[in-house]
Amino acid sequence: MSDRKQNNKKNFASLTIFDKTYNFPIYNSIEGEPVIDISKLHSEAGVFTYDPGFTSTASCESKITFIDGNRGILRYRGYDIEELAQKSDFIEVVNLLIYGDLPNKNQLKKYKRLISRHTLLHEQIINFFQGFRRDAHPMAMMVGVMGALSSFYQDSLDINDAHQRQEATRRIVAKSSTIGAMAYKYSIGQSFVSPKNDLTFSENFLHMCFSNTAEDYKVSPVLAKAMDTIFILHADHEQNASTSTVRLAGSSGANPFACIAAGVSSLWGPAHGGANQAALEMLEEIGSSKNISKYLKKAKNKKDNFKLMGFGHRVYKNYDPRAKILKNICQKVLNHVGIKNDPILKLAVNLEKIALKDKYFIEKKLYPNVDFYSGIILRAMGFPPEMFTVIFAIARTAGWTAHWTEMIEDPIQKIGRPRQLYSGNKALKYGIKRSKKNTR
Ligand code: SDX
Repeated sequence: MSDRKQNNKKNFASLTIFDKTYNFPIYNSIEGEPVIDISKLHSEAGVFTYDPGFTSTASCESKITFIDGNRGILRYRGYDIEELAQKSDFIEVVNLLIYGDLPNKNQLKKYKRLISRHTLLHEQIINFFQGFRRDAHPMAMMVGVMGALSSFYQDSLDINDAHQRQEATRRIVAKSSTIGAMAYKYSIGQSFVSPKNDLTFSENFLHMCFSNTAEDYKVSPVLAKAMDTIFILHADHEQNASTSTVRLAGSSGANPFACIAAGVSSLWGPAHGGANQAALEMLEEIGSSKNISKYLKKAKNKKDNFKLMGFGHRVYKNYDPRAKILKNICQKVLNHVGIKNDPILKLAVNLEKIALKDKYFIEKKLYPNVDFYSGIILRAMGFPPEMFTVIFAIARTAGWTAHWTEMIEDPIQKIGRPRQLYSGNKALKYGIKRSKKNTR
């Protein structure tokens, strides 16, 4: 039990169930809402809680990331995201997330070396790529190859060995950018470009994506800084769907590469990391500011599946601080690559302005999230929309591995096993009655 829990053991929530009252301890968070510990509810009262989508459930204790959704605050290990985006680089942030504090100069130099020596992939993985169709989505390749790493790096699969755990996290972070770049090269029919370890993480990723056998790509410092900022902003976001997936997969004792592959799969969905691709495609579909009101009407219509992609968030009921930073660097990147008056950026800014004045969006507190502006920057850098979620996944390997490590090292860690509210048949006798409703 942590000190925090012991300090607050006098606070209880009382719950009366079928005329009997039970007390459950309340723990104050360091910041943010307190939580009620209902872990003994079933053993003491014989009932479960019901909370689809975990809207009121804290699934773990964590020291990694803090979000204040009402005030639009995001901190990694206590440091504001704005400051990290300005002053840190991605690998320093990875180190911060995994080890808990900012490294000193020597520690950071050593850590960068440890990461960069893992950027190469086993030669056999190249054969693995040949098995994918050329038109496969790069996220499909990310899921497959990430999981396959467990067959190549068998000396870092023992989750009970602290050294192997660290080695696995470094491999995952370093190799994710090489896999992402290879997926891109494969999808455009170009040969793979080897990593260059004298480059920074972000420069190296751009080099592996945009160099080719005929021409070296000269990495622009402006684009490298924008890439690095994008990686920092996407590095972690507490118990989001993909991170919770990684923790749940890891709770069974599965190896780290398999857990991260599960996280990549969860991220791919358009309600989560896939929203950056979907947001750009939506803006292209809207096409012009004169169509905004038509699409806002669709977004507000309960009978229409259309949603404003890159808008709304489970935790933020205010502007996502990451979207604010991304909106600010959009114009800088567009100017740098010579795009003047980008019609898509103009449309996005107009759409945001109109939505934020609309009663529906105001009442539901729907603001642009991290996925609204990132695609405009990435497209200007030369990436096709299919690569946007891959870039999110590369960055999120930092958070996934930090949470996986924290979970494995948590002494109260148990296998994740939610229960259900059963609403199926009562016991039936086999063969007496056949369904008329069975349409399969
Ligand atoms: C990410 O969790 C994280 O931290 C994720 C993330 C990370 O870094 O890991 O921040 C990354 O996943 C960002 C979110 C990307 N997704 C999108 O941009 C897709 C569009 N947005 C949504 O579908 C939605 O807002 C979610 C999925 C992001 C949040 O879903 P919730 O918390 O379950 O909220 P909800 O769907 O129940 O919405 C509440 C209401 C609903 O209306 P009512 O039923 O109350 O009448 O708001 C409406 C929704 O219909 N609503 C929207 C809307 N988002 C919510 N209506 C129109 N357009 C939208 N975008």
